[in-house]
Amino acid sequence: MLKNIALLGSTGSIGTQTLDVVAGFPKDFRITYLTGHTNTTLLLEQVRRFRPRGVVVFSDAAVKEMKKNAPPGTEVLLGEQGLLDIVQRQDVDIVVSSLVGFAGLRPTIAAITAKKKIALANKETLVVAGEIIMPLVDKHHVDLLPVDSEHSAIFQCLAGELPNKVDKLILTASGGPFRTKPMAELQQVTLEQALKHPNWSMGNKITIDSATLMNKGLEVIEAHWLFGVPPERIEVVVHPQSIIHSMVEFVDGSVKAQLGIPDMKIPIQYALTYPSRSPSRFPRVHFPSLGEMTFFEPDRERFPCLQLAFDAIKEGGTMPAVMNAANEVAVAQFLQQKIGFLDIPRMVRSAMEQHSNLANPSLEEIVTTDSETRALLQSQKVS
Ligand SMILES: NC(=O)c1ccc[n+]([C@@H]2O[C@H](COP(=O)([O-])OP(=O)(O)OC[C@H]3O[C@@H](n4cnc5c(N)ncnc54)[C@H](OP(=O)(O)O)[C@@H]3O)[C@@H](O)[C@H]2O)c1
Repeated sequence: MLKNIALLGSTGSIGTQTLDVVAGFPKDFRITYLTGHTNTTLLLEQVRRFRPRGVVVFSDAAVKEMKKNAPPGTEVLLGEQGLLDIVQRQDVDIVVSSLVGFAGLRPTIAAITAKKKIALANKETLVVAGEIIMPLVDKHHVDLLPVDSEHSAIFQCLAGELPNKVDKLILTASGGPFRTKPMAELQQVTLEQALKHPNWSMGNKITIDSATLMNKGLEVIEAHWLFGVPPERIEVVVHPQSIIHSMVEFVDGSVKAQLGIPDMKIPIQYALTYPSRSPSRFPRVHFPSLGEMTFFEPDRERFPCLQLAFDAIKEGGTMPAVMNAANEVAVAQFLQQKIGFLDIPRMVRSAMEQHSNLANPSLEEIVTTDSETRALLQSQKVS
């Protein structure tokens, strides 16, 4: 049966790759809504090609441009309210949540309460509000399917297994572009160097998060909520080849791993077609030419963000939201070349140290914590 998709963040890295996947399945999927933020030119191209019923933009100028240039009859909606509106509509079966950052939180919640199947790329949603999201997922009986390659891997390794037979989850990390760079050189790395990920082509924010290892920290928290495994039983191992996407170790010592080439279209397709698997033309792993696969302990001293994420989830409450907001502000400032690379963990730590944690926060308290943390960091100099 044809499934209707609302694709949030269609102009981004996951968004454009989702459209590539969908284009290969014209009988299975139809795009009914697309959303962008700043890249109206690409959004318009996508609208012309995929002919959605509606499109969400974020400025009055973009509304004007869309209304003038989109195919006649395309509904144009504005801002977060537009996102919250489309994800609840009858002509949406699957919501692909591929916004970046905290902006994904409310639309994802709206999609859950509207009982849509969700393909979740936006890990920040679970990082800041996993404690609220997971009970909602249970209450509304929705499928929350991971798009992140590590979580897709774990999800596949867990198929057919009993939760109480899992000893630990092992998340693999490429180690990023500075895996072997000495500490003394890290503050001087350039934006260009930080944006050069060795294995994956991704949006700017997650690429910097991968270089600081904050991405792996966010993924530990995401895995904790998705799979109900405590952080002490989630291990991170650096695997520079990014062929093993993650693993699960069971109580008998047996380890299951999921492998594939580093291409996000594979987990995106799996989330869309789940519980089925569909053939694909993606390149395959050719083991003889791999040579070797190597594994290392992550260096938590050179990459303090990983430890900060473990600390944040151990504290729980509003602390992960503080960590996430501080990281978003710091990464944005690094992208604008206002701060150095090591200032990112400094800003995150400083925000966490200044925060009085609040246990069992409501959604509004999480939203307030996010805004307050952003305001605090904007008003302070890096110490
Ligand atoms: N990229 C990957 O390979 C990958 C892998 C695993 C997980 N993820 C996760 O997937 C999510 C998306 O990552 P990405 O790399 O695709 O990011 P991206 O390339 O930066 O794309 C983000 C998308 O969200 C839109 N957007 C940005 N800020 C927004 C806001 N405030 N309100 C509404 N829309 C907004 C952007 O619109 P404009 O471009 O029009 O401004 C774009 O469509 C992140 O949570 C990331 O951690 C990504």
